Amino acid sequence: MLETVRWITAEGEVLAGAKEGLNRGPGKLRIIDQTQLPSKLVYLELDDIDEICAAIKRLSVRGAPAIGCAAALGLAAAAQHVDAEEFSEKIHGLADQLAASRPTAVNLFWALDRCRKTKNREELLHEALLILEEDIQRCRAIGEHGVKLIQEGMGILTHCNAGALATGDFGTALSPMYVAHSKNRRFTVYSDETRPLLQGSRLTAWELQRAGIDVVTICDNMAAQVMKEGKIDLVLVGADRIAANGDTANKIGTYGLAVLAKYHGIPFYVAAPTSTIDASLEHGGLIPIEQRDAAEVGAPEGVWVYNPAFDVTPNELITGMITENGLYGPPFKFN
Ligand code: MRU
Repeated sequence: MLETVRWITAEGEVLAGAKEGLNRGPGKLRIIDQTQLPSKLVYLELDDIDEICAAIKRLSVRGAPAIGCAAALGLAAAAQHVDAEEFSEKIHGLADQLAASRPTAVNLFWALDRCRKTKNREELLHEALLILEEDIQRCRAIGEHGVKLIQEGMGILTHCNAGALATGDFGTALSPMYVAHSKNRRFTVYSDETRPLLQGSRLTAWELQRAGIDVVTICDNMAAQVMKEGKIDLVLVGADRIAANGDTANKIGTYGLAVLAKYHGIPFYVAAPTSTIDASLEHGGLIPIEQRDAAEVGAPEGVWVYNPAFDVTPNELITGMITENGLYGPPFKFN
């Protein structure tokens, strides 16, 4: 499918797993530059820590699991410029820089914490490739569990991009759709455009169209009407951080969809790997919410803009969750 986040060796081999990466020598983080989609499919090869942080900040690589994988491989790439004897001393500084790139997706901190425990450059690259390999497996498993929700002829609403472009592969919310499609089940995906950066209309629509899945893009403000018209049977979204009680931070607009789904009696599901669960936070009010640049919204200069990138959907609006371990209903308890 899509090779959103990979390791590329000096010889140009593209790696997605820990075993493949054994003793392959130097390399770089390779990402799809998602700021260029859908018009151009461009890859970036990076090993400079400032460039890697900048790529995460400007959303060249985005989506909670993909950010975690990119940070891990990016750390491994940047660590190649550190003297072997200074590894333990320098690695935390590099990891701290990456950790400051975006605050909400917990996968970033989870992946960096795993990497901080490594003792040398080889071990670090191995761990980073393992994080990527496991993410691909987890997303695949989410698809296998979640496919039960997708019946012939359904209309499914999704928000932002929780697909292969947001993960090592397959996606979270989109993974059950890929599995259902492979079983020749026919359904229509309604993809919210997702203001202000249009991950839905630029990325989800591109990714699903490319896979041959029936996709209809709608503007964010159309969801209520489309639900009222009876076109939506299921809402399926991803997550950036899930608190211990199931409260879920995801792209701004998700909470509104959950309220609308409740009103219209439509099941609302969240799909995420367990690496997105932050059991240390009792409830969603404790999740740090990223505030982004006013320029993204496009108001006249000088006008005050409020631009939170995420919102928190309270657990009572969530019908069920899909992780790599299966399908869960409430009450959600992750600690
Ligand atoms: O700002 P983004 O594009 O990184 O936000 C991404 C989302 O909100 C996704 O829905 C979430 O990370 C799930 S990705 C599988």
